[in-house]
Amino acid sequence: MLRLSQISVFQFKNYQEASFRFTERITGIYGKNGAGKTNLLDAIHYCCFTRSYFTRTDQNNVRQGQQGFRIEGFLNYNGQPEKAVCVVRKQAKGVFGERQRL
Ligand SMILES: Nc1ncnc2c1ncn2[C@@H]1O[C@H](COP(=O)(O)OP(=O)(O)OP(=O)(O)O)[C@@H](O)[C@H]1O
Ligand SMILES: [Mg+2]
Repeated sequence: MLRLSQISVFQFKNYQEASFRFTERITGIYGKNGAGKTNLLDAIHYCCFTRSYFTRTDQNNVRQGQQGFRIEGFLNYNGQPEKAVCVVRKQAKGVFGERQRL
């Protein structure tokens, strides 16, 4: 089984820097309109598929005024801790994605 235990986002959409830990089997996400709930789900989508659910233009997901973003997902895959990283760099096309065992 694959489980996401934590996700950290840097300069991704409305997030400058934020981390979310998922400790229970079921997680609810709540917040005001525009707080970033859907953006958080899109960060999880990036971790799984190295792309946004919404757009193919990765630069659109860089926080306005910043020059790239980074997403780090901490996974547990059949008891083995792993890290999935997605990086979009300044003016670069595409995403650097990597998954590593910890
Ligand atoms: N590239 C970006 N840079 C800065 N802010 C961004 C960027 N892309 C999106 N946003 C901001 O993210 C916010 C929307 O976040 P999101 O859609 O995740 O909210 P939500 O919590 O799902 O809201 P709702 O309850 O209405 O569905 C908006 O304020 C939007 O301006
Ligand atoms: Mg939403």
